[in-house]
Amino acid sequence: MLRSSDLKFVCLCVNDFLFEGETARLVCRVFLHIRDGERPYGVPNQNGVSDLLYKSLAKPLLFKMDPEQAHHLIIGGLSGVGSVRPVPSGLRVMYGVRETPDLAVDMFGCHFPTPVGLAAGLDKNGQAVTGFSSIGFGFMEVGTVTPLAQSGNDQPRLFRLPPDEALVNRMGFNNLGAEAMAGELARLQERRIPVAVNIGKNKVTPNEEAHLDYAKCIQALYTYADLFVVNISSPNTPDLRNLQHGNELKELLAAVMEEMNRQQAKVGGAAKSVLVKIAPDVNEQELEYMVGTIAASGVSGIIATNTTISREGLSHQHAKETGGLSGKPLRERSTEIIRQVYRQTEGKLPIIGSGGIFTSEDAYEKIKAGASLVEIYTALIYEGPEVNRKIHAGLRELLRKDGYHHISEAVGADHR
Ligand SMILES: Cc1cc2nc3c(=O)[nH]c(=O)nc-3n(C[C@H](O)[C@H](O)[C@H](O)COP(=O)(O)O)c2cc1C
Repeated sequence: MLRSSDLKFVCLCVNDFLFEGETARLVCRVFLHIRDGERPYGVPNQNGVSDLLYKSLAKPLLFKMDPEQAHHLIIGGLSGVGSVRPVPSGLRVMYGVRETPDLAVDMFGCHFPTPVGLAAGLDKNGQAVTGFSSIGFGFMEVGTVTPLAQSGNDQPRLFRLPPDEALVNRMGFNNLGAEAMAGELARLQERRIPVAVNIGKNKVTPNEEAHLDYAKCIQALYTYADLFVVNISSPNTPDLRNLQHGNELKELLAAVMEEMNRQQAKVGGAAKSVLVKIAPDVNEQELEYMVGTIAASGVSGIIATNTTISREGLSHQHAKETGGLSGKPLRERSTEIIRQVYRQTEGKLPIIGSGGIFTSEDAYEKIKAGASLVEIYTALIYEGPEVNRKIHAGLRELLRKDGYHHISEAVGADHR
């Protein structure tokens, strides 16, 4: 029997995913069986149900919609789940990933129950942390957030390239501002995974004053972030990527570290980590300089990489759209950057790998190149939340085959 609290969850599915008639009845039946710990009749196992829900029902509907509208629907649906009691646990039954000792990671002063996180840009305002923590992510980034709210670039600004399993976006840091995010994170009742706040500058702020914007974000969000990510690599804010080079990077990171120290002195507690997210569109000399500056600045790690402006090897007409390309075509380039960063730092500066990870093999490739953790965005859109469970199970298998007992033994294995 449906209870009233269950009804809220089912309404969420039926309304938000626009299920009708038979489909809505199937969703209700699957939910009830999962809630009661049974398998729905005729459905072989739980993974089958989750895949069925996304690939056969949600994805076809979502992919018929404008990509940004679909995005809002996902965030809207997942942001409501924290307040509807059985939903997070229902989602965990369907999509959760059980922590296992071989893949749990302690790093950056945090415990990561699984090594696969949600990359920045999907939950720009920190509204869906409980939802995303319930579908198998080991950590998540929220943002990019800027000190003041801004609307971002004109729409359309997000494009799918299905044959290439890619996205092009030129969102331009649309977000509600640092204070609004602080409000969202303050309301969170429980946190199951580390939350990294990804910070940037407002479009109207000139690069000479960028450090003030990053400092303002840290001031507003220090209490609520488990760690910070300094984003200097989005291709969609004019001139932002210039902050990656020359003296500007050194000065920016010095200002960031100074603000972090100031906040720690004020708030107390252990020092929180800062990571820097870099672009894949740099030559070897630029990368070497950048990594040297980042390593000398005292930050705790690097996220490699953000989206690319390259359009190599694409077949879909949306390749001509301006913006950052993510997904499969980015995979090799971002792995190459990880390899170079690991080599230059001799593995001393931890790396989070991002770019084109769809499978456990993709994740393992980045780990062996030097990544200690990985994160995904585009694969979640194409594969659905089941992707987390598949990557986790596959990674365990790959480690076992190579004779490793813990993921840390595989980090940077290509270099030995
Ligand atoms: C629609 C969209 C918006 C994004 N917004 C941000 C952002 O605000 N900040 C950021 O650091 N990265 C952003 N990214 C980049 C992702 O965090 C990620 O680094 C990149 O997409 C590569 O990973 P993937 O191939 O798994 O998607 C965005 C990506 C997409 C597709």
